[in-house]
Amino acid sequence: MTDYMPPFTSTVDLQSCTITNVATTLSRRLADMRGLYADAQAEAALAASNPLIYEVHYAANIPEEAGQLSYCTTVLYPGKVGDEYFMTKGHYHAKGDRAEVYYGLQGEGCLLLQTPEGEVNFQVMKPGVAAYVPPYWGHRTMNVGAVNFVFLAVFPADAGYDYKTIADEGFASIVVERDGKPAVIANPRRAKK
Ligand code: F6R
Ligand code: ZN
Repeated sequence: MTDYMPPFTSTVDLQSCTITNVATTLSRRLADMRGLYADAQAEAALAASNPLIYEVHYAANIPEEAGQLSYCTTVLYPGKVGDEYFMTKGHYHAKGDRAEVYYGLQGEGCLLLQTPEGEVNFQVMKPGVAAYVPPYWGHRTMNVGAVNFVFLAVFPADAGYDYKTIADEGFASIVVERDGKPAVIANPRRAKK
């Protein structure tokens, strides 16, 4: 007999951008992202205040199994480390062939993607924009505005996270402020392949 999971709803609160039946909220501060920003001096200057960079609110009780879908909201706070915008750690999916959809809820953001070979792609995100992350692309978001940047993510529950590749090699490009606007430039800290 098939063991049917009960259907359910949850509310994505459009004020707080949390999910009502949240199981976990993950918070990442600057100290949780050591070495990911390009400007090491700017990072060191912010070390004492250790700002909160982003929070992720996960919907509850979804088994991390093939066939299931997980969803969560990410709230990325406004700010910069040097001239590089506050961003997520960025990851490939541990199961590389798993895709994902991001849906912009608040604020102004960017989605930076790259293939394992280092081809980079850049998408603008704002409320109402659905961004498709195809299989195999590593992905990272940044807040390029003055208020919180928030998006909903829906992804296969068994996708998993490979943070190590990004931590070891970095993204090929970074997003920095130039003349008051976001610009994509080569990452000076990118490890040579
Ligand atoms: C899940 C996903 C997002 C991110 C979140 C935080 O596959 O892409 O939910 O996990 O935006 O970013 P990371 O995980 O890179 O710290
Ligand atoms: Zn992902």
